[in-house]
Amino acid sequence: MNSRFYVTTPIYYVNDVPHIGHAYTTVAADVAARFHRLKGLEVRFLTGTDEHGQKVARAAEENGRSPQEWVDSIVPAWKELWSRLDISNDDFIRTTEERHKTRVQEFWQRLYDSGDVYLAKYEGLYCVSCEEFYKPEELIDGKCPIHGIPVEVVSEENYFFRLSKYKDWLINEYYARTPAPVYPPSRLNEVINFARDLQDTSISRSTFSWGIPIPWDPKHVIYVWVEALLNYITALDYPDGELFKTFWPGVNFVGKDILRFHAVTWPAMLHAAGVDPPDLVVAHGWLLVGGEKMSKTKLTGIHPDQLIETFGVDGFRYYFLRDIAFGQDGNFSWESMLARYNAELANGIGNLASRVLALIESTSGGAVPDPVGGEQDPERAFRSVAEKAVVAYDDALERFAFHEGLDAIDTIVREANQYLVQTAPWKLAKDPSQRKRVDAILYAAAEALRLLAVLLSPFTPAASARLWTSLGVSEGLDAQRLPAAGRWGGLVPGTKVSKGESLFPRVDG
Ligand code: ME8
Ligand code: MG
Repeated sequence: MNSRFYVTTPIYYVNDVPHIGHAYTTVAADVAARFHRLKGLEVRFLTGTDEHGQKVARAAEENGRSPQEWVDSIVPAWKELWSRLDISNDDFIRTTEERHKTRVQEFWQRLYDSGDVYLAKYEGLYCVSCEEFYKPEELIDGKCPIHGIPVEVVSEENYFFRLSKYKDWLINEYYARTPAPVYPPSRLNEVINFARDLQDTSISRSTFSWGIPIPWDPKHVIYVWVEALLNYITALDYPDGELFKTFWPGVNFVGKDILRFHAVTWPAMLHAAGVDPPDLVVAHGWLLVGGEKMSKTKLTGIHPDQLIETFGVDGFRYYFLRDIAFGQDGNFSWESMLARYNAELANGIGNLASRVLALIESTSGGAVPDPVGGEQDPERAFRSVAEKAVVAYDDALERFAFHEGLDAIDTIVREANQYLVQTAPWKLAKDPSQRKRVDAILYAAAEALRLLAVLLSPFTPAASARLWTSLGVSEGLDAQRLPAAGRWGGLVPGTKVSKGESLFPRVDG
């Protein structure tokens, strides 16, 4: 098994501030990073911003700023959002940084020197919002299939990368790997079909200057996509840095809109340069508004702040991964977010925690009771359900099936509530002869809370930390590791618990 895990988000265009679609990818990648830390792996997690190209240059122009002034003014909004959302990235790369520029130039110089780059006259249809060329048959009513805006006819002399030369390697070797290098595996076919008809690709533009100059011909700037993709390794100090040697190849999280670049162009570029391709490209679906992709370009973006104010950071992080099967598209609606938050977080986990902690305070003087001698069938049955859920959780998160992982958590919560209703420790507590039963029941319930704090920690890190503090465990939550921390019986009898504040206060519609 791998002992290291390198995970990245796309680097987002800074033509505008973030919306919940960007937050969705970044939170998902953060959950993957936190989960792998919980598994004891050495993790590195990168995010950043994509600052060159026509789209950003035009946004700057429309706002009466130079491109550099514009990107400098927008980047803080992205960094602030990630910090507000408890994103645990180890690095943040900006493509305008020197460390990126010099290494990108080095990379393309290498491919130029090895004969994989040539100059040719080119005419193509270009969507500035995608920063991508389209074939005429890919357009919908003559417009970009993603943004629905007119494409532009670009006719210029460009440098080209011999992408078509790598078609056989892609199809017969890379895509044929087990496990497949694309998640969900159902998208692999789409990628293979595209690769079957692979053409060489433009890697430079000469009609504008906001980019990294082609080192051997500075009248051209490097095409933003084949520059931006390299961030995943320039941030590791490619070609000879320690980080690069330690962490590459890694896992690239993306939305399905940019899967082609990541699963076709990117591995081929790397292979051409003698670098390993990514282990995996994880592509999720789109958040839709009224059935269409939410987007900055279409101005349908919803800023995360509006939702965080109401549901809190953890409520926000939880909802999207819970509600949408990871990989599929999903509609965002306030009503469904409100319903899930109240049912699963406020009334589910939140109530369970406050009920159990209050019972331990009122019946056991606030100390975790000793279950020995009082355990009966209901405890054994509950314990077995919880143990199976821990295994299901682990298996799901290893497969990036976040929604299934949250399903497993929900199973523990629902089962715990039923178990408490069935055993009714608050009634037994009135009868001194039932002391051992009460102790065993409350121990099991508290142990469920401990498991929940651990399993939820990648998803809802702040609420998990508060629950952990309430449970009074001396070892920090950050020090917990799976599988050990997922084994039943971790709570030490006698540990002092405290009720703490409500984990997920109810939200009134
Ligand atoms: O494409 N639903 O940047 P970008 C789900 N700079 N995810 C969404 C989304 C939606 N409605 N809208 C955006 C770029 N995303 C390039 C990437 S990487 C080397 C360069 C997320 O600002 C999703 O991850 O357009 C998507 O792939 C990404 O934001 C695109 O962000
Ligand atoms: Mg986009």
